[in-house]
Amino acid sequence: MRYTEDIIEEVRARNDIVDVVSQYVKLQKKGNSYFGLCPFHNERSPSFSVSRDKQMYYCFGCGAGGDAYAFLMEYEGLSFPEAVQQLAQQAGVELPVVEGFGEDRAQADYKSSLLGIQKQAAGYYHYQLKQDCGAQARGYLSERGLTAETIQQFGLGYAEKSGSGLYRYLKGKGYPDGLLRDSGLFQADERRGMYDKFRDRVIFPITDVKNRVIGFGGRVMGDGKPKYLNSPETKIFDKGRNLYGLSRARSSRKKNIIICEGYMDVIAMHQAGFTNAVASLGTALTTGHASLLRRYTEEVLMIYDSDEAGIRAALRGIPLLRAAGIHARVVDLSPHKDPDEFIKTCGAGAFGERLSQAQNSFMFQVRMLEREHDLEDPQGKTDFYRAVSERLLEFTQDLERDNYIEAVARQYQVAKEQLHKMVNSMALSGAGIQKKQEVRSPSKKKEESEGAREKAQKLMLAWMVDQPKIFKKVRAYLEPEDFTTPLYQKTARILYEQQEKEGVFTPVRVWAQFEDEEEQKKVASLLNGDLPAELHRGEGKVFADTLLRILEDSLQEQRKNLKPGDIKGLQENIDKEMGLKKLKMDRGQLHISFE
Ligand code: UTP
Ligand code: MN
Repeated sequence: MRYTEDIIEEVRARNDIVDVVSQYVKLQKKGNSYFGLCPFHNERSPSFSVSRDKQMYYCFGCGAGGDAYAFLMEYEGLSFPEAVQQLAQQAGVELPVVEGFGEDRAQADYKSSLLGIQKQAAGYYHYQLKQDCGAQARGYLSERGLTAETIQQFGLGYAEKSGSGLYRYLKGKGYPDGLLRDSGLFQADERRGMYDKFRDRVIFPITDVKNRVIGFGGRVMGDGKPKYLNSPETKIFDKGRNLYGLSRARSSRKKNIIICEGYMDVIAMHQAGFTNAVASLGTALTTGHASLLRRYTEEVLMIYDSDEAGIRAALRGIPLLRAAGIHARVVDLSPHKDPDEFIKTCGAGAFGERLSQAQNSFMFQVRMLEREHDLEDPQGKTDFYRAVSERLLEFTQDLERDNYIEAVARQYQVAKEQLHKMVNSMALSGAGIQKKQEVRSPSKKKEESEGAREKAQKLMLAWMVDQPKIFKKVRAYLEPEDFTTPLYQKTARILYEQQEKEGVFTPVRVWAQFEDEEEQKKVASLLNGDLPAELHRGEGKVFADTLLRILEDSLQEQRKNLKPGDIKGLQENIDKEMGLKKLKMDRGQLHISFE
């Protein structure tokens, strides 16, 4: 389904974002903006802002940002056309009727069709659960202690036995076979054609952070194999970047997120009030999971089975979380197998206690190293301390490392100084960290200079948006092409064009021209003035430095890209260099006053 740019613009203009957001978030006016608690991550003091002038929202905490459509999509899990429909209805705008499936479907349409299929399927399974054929499944879920409310909240369902119900249902909605095949919900063979993948199973819809259904898990009722069947990965279902329950956990207003392994565990925890629980999707924890979690929390409580496999999983996960800047602690539920079982036998109170006793992940690693060594044996004991010291080397901050040395010394009754000595001598001999440093340093340096380059471009653009009167000055020295980072070059083009054609900036329409989520985030941050103090101090010196830096980078970039023999290009480049030199000597002309 597609609406024209004009319609999208009109509907957006007829809805004030402050009104739209206020339906969901309590906002308070502060200066030119409205502030409230971010609905997209856990926080205690408001960093979520909504600007009437810009018609955008932006969270200074987690970076969520966008226009009224984006807000509804993110908050309600709507697709773009659905968000347009909802806002059109609220504003009383009549939408033209558009065809369902056009001939040339763009990639975005492909994805939203796949999302549409998952959503329809979730509705179908949920409906089946309530029919006669769902009686056994209802019995199963209530036997496992789930209330009707929980079943509703998690949208649980039932896939009936026949194995063709969903296929027929979706065909009836007009979806073509190719798309249905790509949805991962069907299997095909020559004899039977397409048939439903999930048959006679309880269904757990899996949603992304925006609460859009992206896949399913299905459990047998009883002892059949496999116990859980899962959707395969598709264009919209990436198991390494999604976590079951995160769309709820991210706004649970708790100080951490609990990560475990099972769908049922997440549901049992939520039902018992631990609404900050999530689970990986039948795969090991990935760096994608770690950075996803970092967006919403600083602390993660890990719960793994207390068996060997569980311990190994925890040990693999800890470094990934640590590398993402997350403090991890490990929860011990023994002798019980998993949270679901624990809560059932011991209750929510006892469960909460175990959470609060969770062990620091480093001390957990040490405890597991201890199990691998015989501390009665002198050699075993030495090896143990060596292994611990090697781990200690991974802390790059002295203070942090010292704290851990102290903790280990206390727990294992070894002199702190001795442990220190061992760590230091290992550091000198280059054990442990050397390998990592070798691979890291060159790329890191490049990253840093790119970082500075990007930062200058972003700062300049943000300045312009914040103080449009400096545009003329900027325009006199910088072309959009001088912003060498593609993202900022595009932003500059749009901003320049807006000024030249309309004489004003309209940030929300700049933002709307980006489709990639990461790009949208960066642009939202820029347009909403999420920048270091320079911007707010508005110093003339910083302005001149930034401008010169951008010109310098542009010059270098141009030179790098010169083709051999391009005399004209070279001449231009040299002229530009001369110009820059003059400008540097006469910085006075770049003087600008901000207020
Ligand atoms: P468990 O076997 O620990 O199951 O698998 P569970 O969570 O305790 O489930 P119940 O309580 O018996 O219903 C943990 C997770 O591993 C994945 C699923 O994501 C499951 O939630 N899994 C397990 C599979 O994908 N396939 C399987 O066959 C089993
Ligand atoms: Mn279980």
